[in-house]
Amino acid sequence: MNQGNVAPTAPLYSQLPYPGDGVVRTTSARILLEGLRERAPELLSRRPLWIADVGCGTGEATAGIARMLPQARVVGIDVNAASLELGRALAVRSKLDLTFVQADMTQPLGEALRRAGVSAREGRFDVITSMGVLHHLSDPAAGFARVREILREDGLFQVYVYSKFGRREVLQVRELLDRALPEGTFQDRARAVRSLRLSRKHTLWEGVRTLRKRLRFGPPLRFGEIVQVAMRRSRITHLSDTFSNPCEHSFLFDELFTIFARTGWAFAGLAKQGGLPTSAEEHTRDPRALELLKAMPQAALFDLLAFAHRAAGWTFFLRPTKIVA
Ligand SMILES: C[S@@+](CC[C@H](N)C(=O)[O-])C[C@H]1O[C@@H](n2cnc3c(N)ncnc32)[C@H](O)[C@@H]1O
Repeated sequence: MNQGNVAPTAPLYSQLPYPGDGVVRTTSARILLEGLRERAPELLSRRPLWIADVGCGTGEATAGIARMLPQARVVGIDVNAASLELGRALAVRSKLDLTFVQADMTQPLGEALRRAGVSAREGRFDVITSMGVLHHLSDPAAGFARVREILREDGLFQVYVYSKFGRREVLQVRELLDRALPEGTFQDRARAVRSLRLSRKHTLWEGVRTLRKRLRFGPPLRFGEIVQVAMRRSRITHLSDTFSNPCEHSFLFDELFTIFARTGWAFAGLAKQGGLPTSAEEHTRDPRALELLKAMPQAALFDLLAFAHRAAGWTFFLRPTKIVA
C-alpha cells in the first residue's frame, strides 16, 4: 500500500506506519503547551487556535494536542495514506475532532489543504508542530520553507530533528547493518539489532539512565500512557524507524542555523522538558566546566549537550522572520 506516497521514506512507512501504537500521547503536546505559555502566550486565547501537525504519522501525538488544547482545531498532515487511515480510526475511538490531510511537505501545502476543505485563518495556522519529520526529507530545507508558508507571521513552530553527535552510535549500527545484511528486510535488520544486542538503548542499565534523565530533563512521564504504549508498541516498527530509515539526515546546530536564515526562521530556544538541559548551568555546577561552556558559541553548546546526554536530537521553537539571502 503506497498510494500517493512518493517520499523516499515510503518503503518503510507504507509497510510499518509510525508510531502505530494507537494510543493518544500527550508528551509533545505538553512540551508545546509550555513553549506557548513561555514564548507566545497571546496565541493561547485564540478561538479556535489553528494547529497543524506536519508529518503526523499515525496521529498519536496529533490526538494528544487536541486533548491538551481543547480550544484548538487540529489538522494532521502526512504523505503516507496508511498512516492517516490509522490516525482517523484513533480519532474516532478517542472521540476527538481531528482532520487528516494527505500531502507532501516538500511541495506547497496550501493547495492540498484547500482541496481538503481546510481554510485555517486565511490559509495559515497559528501553531505548527513537526516532530521527527524534517530529517527524513530528501531536502530538509525545502520542508522548513514549506512550513513557513502556512504559518502566520505571529505564529510558533515546534520542531524535533536529529543531532549528528547525539545520533553517532545509531549511525554506526546502521552502517554495520548495511554491510552485514545488504539485502536484509526491515524485519531481518530489527531482529539483528535485538538478538545481537547492537543497541545499548535496550539494556537494563541504559533503561535506568534514560529514566533518570527523563526525570531531570523531561519529557515529563505519564505512567498511564507509557504502560498503554508498552503494551501495544511494535518493536519492529520502532527499531526500523531508528536503524533502517531509507532517508535520514542528522545535523550540527550550525547547519540548522544556516537553514533557518535561508528559509525565514528565527531561533526561539530549545524546549524545556525536551530531553536536554537548555543552559550551561543546567548541565553542570563545576565552575571550570561552566566557564568553558559559557565561552562557546550557542550552536557548539547545543551539539555538546546532545553528545553528552546521548539525546538523538533536539526539540526547539522557531518564529517566522525575514529570509536572509
Ligand atoms: C518518524 S515519523 C514521525 C511521526 C509523528 N510526527 C510522531 O512523532 O509520532 C515521520 C513521518 O513523516 C512522514 N513524512 C515523510 N516524508 C514526508 C513528506 N515529504 N511529507 C509529509 N510527511 C512526510 C512519514 O510518512 C512519517 O509518518
